[in-house]
Amino acid sequence: MQTIAVCLLTFVFIWTAFASSSENLKPHHTLDEWLDRQYAFSVDHLLDNVHPVGTSAGVVIASPSQSHPDYYYHWVRDSALVMSVVERLYERASPGSPESKRYEHLLWNYATFSRMNQLQKTKSGFGEPKFHVNGSPFNGNWGRPQNDGPALRASTLIRFANAYLDRGGSIEAVKKLLYDSRYPTQTVIKADLEFTSSAWRDKCFDLWEEVYGHHFYTRMVQYAALQSGAQFAKRMKDVGAADWYKLQSMKLKQIVTTHWDPVSGYMQETLDQSGGLPDKILNLDTATILAALHTVDQTSPYRPFSQEILLTAQELVSRMAPLYPINGNSNLTLAPAIGRYCEDTYDGYGRSEGNPWILTTAAIAETLYHTASHLLEDTTIPSSLKHSYLHLAQNVTDTGDHFLNRVRLHTPTSGSLSEQVNKNTGFMQGAPHLTWSYASIITATWAREKALRKLKEWKDDRPVDVPAQHYDRVFQIPIFRVQV
Ligand code: NOJ
Ligand code: NOJ
Repeated sequence: MQTIAVCLLTFVFIWTAFASSSENLKPHHTLDEWLDRQYAFSVDHLLDNVHPVGTSAGVVIASPSQSHPDYYYHWVRDSALVMSVVERLYERASPGSPESKRYEHLLWNYATFSRMNQLQKTKSGFGEPKFHVNGSPFNGNWGRPQNDGPALRASTLIRFANAYLDRGGSIEAVKKLLYDSRYPTQTVIKADLEFTSSAWRDKCFDLWEEVYGHHFYTRMVQYAALQSGAQFAKRMKDVGAADWYKLQSMKLKQIVTTHWDPVSGYMQETLDQSGGLPDKILNLDTATILAALHTVDQTSPYRPFSQEILLTAQELVSRMAPLYPINGNSNLTLAPAIGRYCEDTYDGYGRSEGNPWILTTAAIAETLYHTASHLLEDTTIPSSLKHSYLHLAQNVTDTGDHFLNRVRLHTPTSGSLSEQVNKNTGFMQGAPHLTWSYASIITATWAREKALRKLKEWKDDRPVDVPAQHYDRVFQIPIFRVQV
């Protein structure tokens, strides 16, 4: 825990080194006011992209844009991530309420459509990355297969099946579409688990659809699917399968750790690359941060608050701060915008120069919120250090806010989010209304709410005087002195 603390302190400082004093956020809105509106807008726009007019039920379009760029497809990865937000909305809605029924309906449609995808004859089988909005496979040239998709889809649907059953849902309905405990199976979750449990050794394209090899992101989400798959199989009395998924997940867990590189001090996204874009020299990629976030429910080997993930985040921030000209105005409350990886050349339409992205910038904020909550969940903290932990958690939360301030700065008053932010002008660029961008704001908001709630509980419980944010004071706190 104390190593995390040191790592965080450095993290907080790393971008302030690039800070200038200019402050051009719209002064009439606080972050809270902006986020209230942006959260509601994001939920609405995310839902607009689920089964829009002219698409099959169950489709999630990556973006409504049909040209420049054409993102009007059901991407297996994007859809699973977006529907996991819908699943959480379902869990948050009170049982039997109209919202809960609406979300449940969307999730069943998604499950049905996903099963149809699985039954299609595609160029690469289960790892096929995207489908047309009528459900037929996309057969053009593409980086395929992408084996993160089935794993993410399984995780989303397992969480739904559990929540649905916990609310007294029909086991027969679950057996019919989601998990039949038969081999060979006719159901969507089990088919994805069977695929993942036998194909995790295979190379594939990464989540950015550019590099062929073994990827940390893919392996982490495969691990998480098999881990929760094993528990769910047990619930469904599919004992043999539960053991098999568990065994495969344990093997995968060992292999995932080989991505940590103590020499560079950050997680290596791709190992054994043997195809795709050759220029990712650093192998430092925000995908590794997303991997920890997208598996946060499972006891994955690397949690968002683990030292390895925080060190990797820190390295990303320090390298990307000077990379994008818009970051020149970073200051004590405005963190730098973050992109996918330093050598990126995808500009949202084609190849020129890479930019910061909304979802990767929001991911750093979300990571810090999880870290703050984690610090306050630690029951082993000696009472002499409690004040310091609270102070640190407050600082970490504030630093998360500084990354959301960056998103806020580049978001038009309409609230519309595209995929990227132009690195020179700060205007949105690439696919408009990218569904995943909205999802990233929603999940960051939830992680923030949790951190704020815990901070409040701590302050209410043990009234202590938490000083305002002065980063030069952070180095003075006892927790840091414990280290040196
Ligand atoms: C679209 C992909 O999704 C993106 O990641 C990639 O960089 C571009 N195509 C260019 O290949
Ligand atoms: C490009 C991204 O690289 C990829 O991860 C995503 O699936 C597609 N765009 C669709 O949003």
